[in-house]
Amino acid sequence: MITKTALITGASSGIGLELAKLFAKNGFYLILVARSEERLEKLADELRYEHHVQVATFAKDLTDLNEIQSLFQIIEEENIFIDFLVNNAGFGDYGYFVESDWHKIHQMINLNMTSLTYMTHLFLQRMKKEGRGRIMNIASTAAFQPGPLMAVYFATKSYVLNFSEALFEELKEFNITVTTYCPGATATNFSNEANTNNSKLFKNRKLPTAAKVAEYGFMAMMQGKRLAIYGFMNRVMVFSTRFTPRSIVLKITKFILKE
Ligand SMILES: NC(=O)c1ccc[n+]([C@@H]2O[C@H](COP(=O)([O-])OP(=O)(O)OC[C@H]3O[C@@H](n4cnc5c(N)ncnc54)[C@H](OP(=O)(O)O)[C@@H]3O)[C@@H](O)[C@H]2O)c1
Repeated sequence: MITKTALITGASSGIGLELAKLFAKNGFYLILVARSEERLEKLADELRYEHHVQVATFAKDLTDLNEIQSLFQIIEEENIFIDFLVNNAGFGDYGYFVESDWHKIHQMINLNMTSLTYMTHLFLQRMKKEGRGRIMNIASTAAFQPGPLMAVYFATKSYVLNFSEALFEELKEFNITVTTYCPGATATNFSNEANTNNSKLFKNRKLPTAAKVAEYGFMAMMQGKRLAIYGFMNRVMVFSTRFTPRSIVLKITKFILKE
């Protein structure tokens, strides 16, 4: 049996880390990418030991396109075909846009949109040649409406949703699937990074674990689904935004995001 390889970005914590465990458990070879070298190496050791799979780690800052290019070059030189590409790395930022730190906002745009698009463009070329491949881009339930108090984050996730769904349709004829995965609020380090711990969306709520959320996304990717939204209530919420006036959706979203 030929072993398949999955590349996962943002594999050092949260949903990406749990996805890495699932791929390893299912016998995939892995390429894990994030900035924290130590955390990636620790995870890689665990996975090699528990599941006897090959795991390579790359400590890369994906906001830097040169680092993405160098990662791609190494993988090409080793002649590794990426059967499964998971663009998971991303972060958010909470607060009034006018008061936000420009550097952080710019990095978020770079990571959530530019790096995801560049990774997809690079690794798609060989998938098209081989006539197979699966991509999963992690968006969010934030993708379905504007998000006052997290304006840029919500907008980046709308981009991921629209970009990925368009690709799903384009790539059908090449036997490549693109799954857009939309988790809702999940118990990871995301809320610390984004300063959302006091927002009603995260505070005093029993959030699903990253393991549960990863499992649902993994299944959706394996099935080649176009869109997957985690959780019944999230699906209801997304569905209801289609029939609710935009002005009301804005007010409700702001209320939910407020501290
Ligand atoms: N948690 C939620 O509530 C939630 C809800 C919906 C969608 N999401 C989305 O799910 C995805 C995963 O987030 P998570 O919840 O698992 O958060 P997390 O635990 O904070 O994980 C984020 C991952 O991205 C990596 N990362 C951050 N900046 C990076 C950079 N510049 N270069 C390379 N890697 C970088 C982090 O690793 P390093 O720090 O080691 O680089 C980490 O592995 C994100 O796209 C997020 O937007 C999360």
